[in-house]
Amino acid sequence: MKNPLLRKAKLKDITEILKIEKKVFKEPWSLYSFLMELKTPFNYFVVLEINRKIIGYLIAREHEESYHLMNIAIDKEYQGMGYGKFLLNDLIQKAKGEGKKFIFLEVRVSNLKAIKFYEKMGFKRKRILKGYYGFKEDGYEYVLHIFED
Ligand SMILES: CC(C)(COP(=O)(O)OP(=O)(O)OC[C@H]1O[C@@H](n2cnc3c(N)ncnc32)[C@H](O)[C@@H]1OP(=O)(O)O)[C@@H](O)C(=O)NCCC(=O)NCCS
Repeated sequence: MKNPLLRKAKLKDITEILKIEKKVFKEPWSLYSFLMELKTPFNYFVVLEINRKIIGYLIAREHEESYHLMNIAIDKEYQGMGYGKFLLNDLIQKAKGEGKKFIFLEVRVSNLKAIKFYEKMGFKRKRILKGYYGFKEDGYEYVLHIFED
């Protein structure tokens, strides 16, 4: 893994982000969704760069006691090299530093790669979300507990 740079996402990054999104998801988010995420207060939206090229991004929404991981992706050619782990570890460290209790997310039951990734990162399956993806597919909710009461 080369030394990546992590920074806040900007408006000018959205074109590159959309290119990756369309490559890695069969039902990609729209331009509008990304623009909304950029504007939403309490969002942590970061990109990962190598030599000024965006190779991944992460969006998480801050709640009082938690972060909700909304989207994470690494460009196809850079997957399996530790960059996803780098991005998610950054969020975990941030959440720890802020005293959050947990991070939660939803994932398609068919997305085995992401499921393996989240489980490797310590997330636990909490429940099945029937018809979560437009009634065509179920999801799982996964949770990583940071501080227990
Ligand atoms: C899921 C995703 C973000 C993971 O990022 P990545 O950079 O490929 O993953 P990493 O190389 O950091 O892998 C971290 C760990 O996850 C596990 N993992 C990652 N990809 C895996 C795969 N294809 N199969 C099994 N385990 C895998 C490995 O155990 C790895 O640990 P190791 O390096 O100690 O073996 C990336 O594959 C991706 O962008 N996928 C498409 C978009 C997506 O599905 N996002 C999630 C939506 S819910």
